Amino acid sequence: MCGIVGYIGNKNSTPILLEGLKKLEYRGYDSAGLAILSDGEISIVRRKGHLEELERAVKESNPEGWVGIGHTRWATHGRPSEMNAHPHIDCTGRIALVHNGIIENFFGLREELESRGHTFHSETDTEVLVHLIEENYRGDLAEAARQSLKRVEGSFAIVVICKDEPDVVVAARKDSPLVVGLGKGEYFVASDIPAILGHTRDVLILKDGEIAKVNQDGVKITTLGNQPVDREVFRVKWGAEAAEKGGYEDFMLKEIFEQPVAIRETLRGRIGADCRISLDEVALTEEEIKNLKKVFMVACGTSYHAGLMGKRIIEKWARLPVETDISSEFRYQDPLVDSDTLVIAITQSGETADTLAGIREAKRKGARVMAITNVVGSSVTREADGVFYTHAGPEIGVAATKTLVAQMAALYVLALYLARARETLSLEEMEKIVAEVLRLPELTEKVLSNHAEIEGCARKYHARSNFLFLGRGMGLPVALEGALKLKEISYIHAEGCPAGEMKHGPIALIDGDVPVVVVATRGQVHEKVTSNIQEVRARGATVITVANEGDEEIAKLADHVFCVPETSEFLSPILAVIPLQLFAYYVAKLRGCNVDQPRNLAKSVTVE
Ligand code: M6R
Repeated sequence: MCGIVGYIGNKNSTPILLEGLKKLEYRGYDSAGLAILSDGEISIVRRKGHLEELERAVKESNPEGWVGIGHTRWATHGRPSEMNAHPHIDCTGRIALVHNGIIENFFGLREELESRGHTFHSETDTEVLVHLIEENYRGDLAEAARQSLKRVEGSFAIVVICKDEPDVVVAARKDSPLVVGLGKGEYFVASDIPAILGHTRDVLILKDGEIAKVNQDGVKITTLGNQPVDREVFRVKWGAEAAEKGGYEDFMLKEIFEQPVAIRETLRGRIGADCRISLDEVALTEEEIKNLKKVFMVACGTSYHAGLMGKRIIEKWARLPVETDISSEFRYQDPLVDSDTLVIAITQSGETADTLAGIREAKRKGARVMAITNVVGSSVTREADGVFYTHAGPEIGVAATKTLVAQMAALYVLALYLARARETLSLEEMEKIVAEVLRLPELTEKVLSNHAEIEGCARKYHARSNFLFLGRGMGLPVALEGALKLKEISYIHAEGCPAGEMKHGPIALIDGDVPVVVVATRGQVHEKVTSNIQEVRARGATVITVANEGDEEIAKLADHVFCVPETSEFLSPILAVIPLQLFAYYVAKLRGCNVDQPRNLAKSVTVE
């Protein structure tokens, strides 16, 4: 879960690599480093801490060269320190390497390499790779990498350079993403497309078990088994500006305000006012959908909350039993899935290791697997039988916002698609739902226009240490997400809980110092939620609610109301979640937190 970059071309690589790392900082930011090849020598600069530390160090030593590699780290093996920062170098100082992933058999390999006289300088798993390549090097870096990677268990994306081949960069991957950008007389390697978009839109997406040898003449891709690969060039349609802040203070705020567009783009072409639902991506025939016995959704974090919402709508509209599970639990519980089960992996990045492992397990058991993801060419797209892309655009802030509402929009489309094939909704019901779904972008804009009120409320409560979030039915995933957003970016302890469960324990937490945030939009359980608000008020809590415009009863009971427009109960989560994203954002800003890069987190979690 780190970001890696590489460059070979006719320019000084240092600023290009630093710029690429800046775009990848969301993947990890506890240390960073560069290796620059020039005049037959490799200069290494590494620093603990954010990228600015590395930039400062680079200004002092000013390394220049037209070949280089870089890394921004999220520690797995070995604490964040300069010694453990990448690039790592072999015993001879000839070879430098950056790595994203985990080498699971590193311990045995390290013992073996040490017994043959190699000296290690870090506590990382990665360092074994560079020593293995050193041992296998006979004048051909790509071949040495290929031989070395055969010894390795685990996941890797690597970029490696060698001073004996100053015009070559070698890149390889397995279970960690890697792309090669094609410029004019120059080539870029990176973990993710935004890192190279300032230079090129033409990209080769490496697949698992592939290795690319890049030099001034071009890119040669082969498998690790040395079979030639002919990869089509992928032209990126969105521009670098889509990954910039566009006048907002933070990426997170920009991404929250991009939500109407994210929903509109995800619905575009898939759902028509005439109730036509186009979803060829599902890769299931009408007959297969009719025969489905069960749906399983697997996901982590915010995507899991989308899955909890998806469960409720698919069960309601398509009358299919759905289980939503956290990927890291699903994969080890011997799940009851078979060929009559559709497993849906929800993952914005498409790289979450636990979710990928979950769908492998499902496939092994014969299930059909579909992915809902935001990243074209990500690992999940290669493993799933069908892929439903959300079109939220790149999300840089570590906290998921616009990708969540895009996932929700996708789940509405999917639920309607399944309902249509299974004939579980009448045409009249379909028409009503479709009309409401198509209004969502506009309603989302309305919710966002209330941002000043939400900021005002955040000003009142940002210094509190504990928050409780309550919801029932469709409000529960929203409450859980509200709590996750607040804790991950503001570091305030926040607990999300089903409102009806409160009396079974969490109510003991309530006193005048714990604000209780209640999702109280109208629906089947509205009266019950109203009673829950009474219960917490009776115990002295401040109550902040998300409620529908014109709901006087809730307005009387609550200290603060974040209003959202009235919509069908089943569509309410996509609107109700937005005030809670904004609330978390403003609270975190008022506490001086780095909202785009919260501590200890990373954008894509490619480790188990
Ligand atoms: O890329 P994914 O959707 O699979 O990521 C899942 C979680 O890691 C992610 O949602 C995480 O919880 C975010 N920090 C939430 O804001």
